[in-house]
Amino acid sequence: MTSLLKFSAPRGLRIARAEGQYVWDTSGRRYIDFHTGHGAAFLGHRNKYVVARLREQLETLTSMPPVFDHAILDEALKSLDRILPSHLRNVFFMNSGSEAVELALKLTRKRSGRKFFASFMGGFHGRTMAALGVTHNPRYRQGFDPFPGETLFLPFNRPDLLQGLNDSISAVIVEPVQGEAGVHPATREFMRAVEERCREVGAYLVVDEVQAGFGRAGYVWSHLELGVRPDVMVAGKSVGGGFPVSFVAVSNEIAERVEEGEHGSTHGGNPLALAALVGGIEALEKEDVPGKARHMGEILASQLSEVVGEYEGVVRELRHKGLMIGLELRQRVAPIISQLQERGLLALRSGSIVLRFLPPYLITEQDIESGVSILREALSNARKGVEV
Ligand SMILES: Cc1ncc(COP(=O)(O)O)c(C=O)c1O
Repeated sequence: MTSLLKFSAPRGLRIARAEGQYVWDTSGRRYIDFHTGHGAAFLGHRNKYVVARLREQLETLTSMPPVFDHAILDEALKSLDRILPSHLRNVFFMNSGSEAVELALKLTRKRSGRKFFASFMGGFHGRTMAALGVTHNPRYRQGFDPFPGETLFLPFNRPDLLQGLNDSISAVIVEPVQGEAGVHPATREFMRAVEERCREVGAYLVVDEVQAGFGRAGYVWSHLELGVRPDVMVAGKSVGGGFPVSFVAVSNEIAERVEEGEHGSTHGGNPLALAALVGGIEALEKEDVPGKARHMGEILASQLSEVVGEYEGVVRELRHKGLMIGLELRQRVAPIISQLQERGLLALRSGSIVLRFLPPYLITEQDIESGVSILREALSNARKGVEV
């Protein structure tokens, strides 16, 4: 029998279906989903706008690259027009975050004529070779070097330590909130300093909004709230409501110099993916997703800060931005995640000691109360040294 390569430890849970903020296993047991498929289902499972658009699209056109004109391509571009920063209205569609990062790196390297990239300690940008090259975690990189483009890694959130950036750097890539590293929001001062240094040395600024963007951190695009104007933005994960779609949005200066044949993709811009994106943007706007993420994020964080006080021996710190939540523990997170799952709450981790919650925007106060009480039980057991 064909088996799946085990790059991740299996979660030991057989999922039957999912709706909104919940998933059910094959025995009919319900789980609150704070994992959302690595954040992809931030709009909720089977989001009604996304499902309606996909259904409609299935009836007309399901495979057609964007070199041909078609209605859903027009709609996708029109929808993006409403939410993209005004200076980044040139896009190309891809399928995953990593692929979009690859394109961002390709474009900036060729335009700049420079060899190197810069990124930040803790930064995560994907698993393909160039995206991995600008990803910091040695555990992910080990055994895969050399990467296409050497990367200078600078300390995150240290505006005073950017001197290493010089005129050999083609692009600096940065997350407005580092997700994989354990939920570390960038400060405004840091982001502004990065942009300023990029302008001084003539490097492009690439903002990776794959995880923080599209409302999750409380704003459609987090970097706007931080007051920067990047040359390139990369988005993915939840933009298609869980359907695989990503895109790169670039400035006019980059777009004007795009050459025929420089890039392409068989599935990038697939009509179903574009329909999902149109549905995703509809949901984002009609449901005020960023506002709800800010509001529910505050409620969840305030309850979690009480938990931190109660379980100081187990939890070191709470970090959050909108509905991106990280609880740094004083011990390994894996047993806690198993206990949460056992009690009906799905969560994920960032590294080995940070418990990460990426709930969908539509969680209710009742879900928060249930989730926090499950967390309390797991932390009590951890304090007593009990494992499932
Ligand atoms: C900030 C960031 N960039 C890029 C990626 C890569 O996206 P994908 O897994 O869709 O390739 C991720 C995935 O977690 C991410 O969090």
